[in-house]
Amino acid sequence: MLPKRRRVRAGSPHSAAASSAPPAARFPSVAIYLAEPRMGRSRRAFLTRLARSKGFRVLDAYSSEVTHVVMEQTSAQEAICWRKNMDALLSSCPQPALLDISWFTESMAAGQPVPEEGRHRLEVAEPRKEPLCSVTMPAYACQRPTPLTHHNTILSEALETLAEAAGFEGNEGRLLAFSRAASLLKSLSCPVTSLSQLQGLPHFGEHSSRVVQELLERGTCEEVEQVRCSERYQTMKLFTQVFGVGVKTADRWYQEGLRTLDELREQPQRLTQQQKAGLQYYQDLSTPVGRAEAEALQRLVEAAVRQTLPEATVTLTGGFRRGKLQGHDVDFLITHPEEGQEVGLLPRVMSYLQSQGLVLYHQYHCSHLGDSAYLLSKNYTMDAFERSFCILCLPQPPRAALEEPLHPCPTQKAVRVDLVVTPNSQFPFALLGWTGSQLFERELRRFSRREKGLWLNSHGLFDPGRKTFFHATSEEDIFRFLGLKYIPPEQRNA
Ligand code: CTP
Ligand code: MN
Ligand code: MN
Repeated sequence: MLPKRRRVRAGSPHSAAASSAPPAARFPSVAIYLAEPRMGRSRRAFLTRLARSKGFRVLDAYSSEVTHVVMEQTSAQEAICWRKNMDALLSSCPQPALLDISWFTESMAAGQPVPEEGRHRLEVAEPRKEPLCSVTMPAYACQRPTPLTHHNTILSEALETLAEAAGFEGNEGRLLAFSRAASLLKSLSCPVTSLSQLQGLPHFGEHSSRVVQELLERGTCEEVEQVRCSERYQTMKLFTQVFGVGVKTADRWYQEGLRTLDELREQPQRLTQQQKAGLQYYQDLSTPVGRAEAEALQRLVEAAVRQTLPEATVTLTGGFRRGKLQGHDVDFLITHPEEGQEVGLLPRVMSYLQSQGLVLYHQYHCSHLGDSAYLLSKNYTMDAFERSFCILCLPQPPRAALEEPLHPCPTQKAVRVDLVVTPNSQFPFALLGWTGSQLFERELRRFSRREKGLWLNSHGLFDPGRKTFFHATSEEDIFRFLGLKYIPPEQRNA
């Protein structure tokens, strides 16, 4: 017996006319959407052409008009997750049929839509309460390990571009939203291949989901590409990369029509000393610092510190402590086992480095440790340590004689170095605060405040209720006080 629809058509006086009707009008009640993730782009394009040549209506974009969604190698569970995510993007709720590719191929062979039978349907399985594909993930980045290399680089980089662009517009909320979504992807233990896997994850709002979906389906995201190509983004990136230039300054210059570093150099009266140094050494400073260079700098700083105060220690922190192989600068913490011995150390270390001809630029900030307002400050960016933001000159090892014989080897390289001095009792907090990543720190402080009612900064952990500070001898102590599982530095790449 013929299926219902075919039976009707077979006896219909329109059947002969229908085959010669314009393709789009042949089966007006059917609008197909081919879901790409498992199908791939070129196969999707091929199937689209095939169906259209047979008079089927195939829509390029998912919309409320779609009546039949066709998927390949997709489980019922995934299909339902997929439709839920897609429907969330629409204002109405069309609930199209979710069909396996077998329905499509049979329909192509028949030259008309075959009835949807149970074996074609992807939605027979009852949706479970917890979708199989979803992963549970704690909301704060400080509650989960985030390795340096992970499985979702393309996705996280796209979201980070949008975060960075939001930061350039001074939109802190958007910056955080995209950063948190990007960071979450870095914590996942496998590559995301379908949007449904992100179901139920924190921080995945509509916008981030849309970006991921587009990347999964097309391999690129138009919004991200537009941002990356835009004059605004490129110029803001260029300007903020200059040592001493923040978003506000970069924005002002942009608004005034400035676009290039040469245009900045032409207006030295408008530049701070720091910015002048940043421009002067721009080429070196925009070249990443390698791990070997960081270690060579550590030896130079250690020698200077030993010369000044033999028992003092130098600890490499920042991105290199998190296992990064490259960085934009090198961060060091200096302390002394005996509290108080570190006072006044930094100017003497700087003088020694200067006497060795190693300092190209430095900006010294004295300690505000006596100032309790500073210490209890909830402001993220400010800490009260004695510090020096410098540009040091790193002698380059001579290259082999045969290497690039036509080019003279550079004998030195300018490198950004942050030197921070901390009293021993605050060292664990300073180490935790300066190891980063920046998002990890923000999340740690937010977690402390919101979940524990405690204020954390690079000096200590304060209980505002009891007006007491916690004593810690290690980073592990601090995680313990906060009721957090210890996260080692290499897993703080949030
Ligand atoms: N930091 C800080 N106060 C500052 C500057 C930085 O507490 N005034 C902290 C940041 O929280 C960050 C860490 O120091 O986590 C290192 O900062 P930075 O050198 O900017 O970043 P890295 O993570 O080291 O990245 P990169 O490798 O690019 O240097
Ligand atoms: Mn750094
Ligand atoms: Mn730094």
